[in-house]
Amino acid sequence: MTDRTVRAPEPARISAPTLPYLPRTPKTYHPNIGLIGCGGIAPYHLRAYKTRGYKVVALCDIDPARADGLQAQYFPEAKVYTDYQEVLRRPDIEVVDVATHPGIRVEMVSSAIEAGKHVLSQKPFAMDLDVGEKLCDMAERREVKLAVNQNGRWAPHFAYLREAIALGLIGKPIAAHLACHWDHNWTAGTAFDAIKHLILFDFGIHWYDILGCFLPGLAPARVYASTTSAAGQKAKPSLLAQVAVEYDSAQASIAFDGSTRFGRRDSTIVVGTDGTIDSDGPDLHRQTVTLHTPQGSASPELEGEWFTNGFEGAMGELLCAIEENREPFNSGRDNLKGLAICFAAVESAETHQPVAPGSVRRLTAL
Ligand SMILES: NC(=O)c1ccc[n+]([C@@H]2O[C@H](COP(=O)([O-])OP(=O)(O)OC[C@H]3O[C@@H](n4cnc5c(N)ncnc54)[C@H](O)[C@@H]3O)[C@@H](O)[C@H]2O)c1
Repeated sequence: MTDRTVRAPEPARISAPTLPYLPRTPKTYHPNIGLIGCGGIAPYHLRAYKTRGYKVVALCDIDPARADGLQAQYFPEAKVYTDYQEVLRRPDIEVVDVATHPGIRVEMVSSAIEAGKHVLSQKPFAMDLDVGEKLCDMAERREVKLAVNQNGRWAPHFAYLREAIALGLIGKPIAAHLACHWDHNWTAGTAFDAIKHLILFDFGIHWYDILGCFLPGLAPARVYASTTSAAGQKAKPSLLAQVAVEYDSAQASIAFDGSTRFGRRDSTIVVGTDGTIDSDGPDLHRQTVTLHTPQGSASPELEGEWFTNGFEGAMGELLCAIEENREPFNSGRDNLKGLAICFAAVESAETHQPVAPGSVRRLTAL
């Protein structure tokens, strides 16, 4: 026990452990990939795949100009389609990356699974937990892999934290607190203005997902959440939100201060029985990680950034899982745990009551 009025001693500086936090690439498996949906996020997918040498042979969008533009810029050899079923009919395509919006994505993902393709789905994976479970069951029956593009898992700081935790470097995690102080007012006047729970749902999804990685094996019992509009905010949806998650032997919180004009900051701390690991910086791209153990404190030099590592990591993990014939770390099934916290948080913010994750099966209050 430490008296809080006594200044803590300066920890010894030790060298940071080398951890496998960088995206993986399969050893020999280089399948043909088809991308369905060539909108705003698609260039980030394709840039990452080009960097890693993955083979994209089909680009599909109902607006052919979008697919044409990406073909010219990233994969000139790829064929352009406006009907995704044509992509699914190609026997030489083994992996399909679906980057459309969630409403129409369910039909696309299930058709792709039926056609025997492995699938990487953009997030949010599902708007209904039962539908998400059905897709996972279908993939298992058809013996294909279904993964979710939850790219935040490979953001360098998050990836280092989760690897350190998985290796037991901080012992058993007992608390995780994540705080995002950033400015989301850029969404004012865009389609995002129509999403009531923009922060708890659309933005928050990466954070519930990473929480599951930071507290592995722990089942959340209850979620408490609230939202409110910030004085002076320009966007329509409430930009202030907070979420508390209760576990049997741990606790977690996420603070979303989405109208921070000055002094932006993103910080994360995970406290364990034998150590603590934290990360802090002015945004998600510039982060300093520090691991604190009884031997001292260490800060690793991290490579890469949120989007590059994220998109390389999500597809790389799916390809490695196919090659190694195992469940992808970013599987649909695993992703449903984060979605259950998300749906519970939205419901709690609506009702001002604690909500058990899993009890709210679908989002209705969007
Ligand atoms: N992982 C991340 O960090 C991240 C970031 C941004 C967006 N996203 C997600 O990616 C998804 C897409 O977002 P976006 O910003 O690219 O949206 P967008 O609206 O820019 O793009 C969607 C594309 O899908 C196409 N499309 C619609 N119907 C189609 C059909 N039947 N067949 C083929 N193409 C069709 C549209 O023409 C459009 O080009 C969303 O679910 C979003 O939440 C994820």
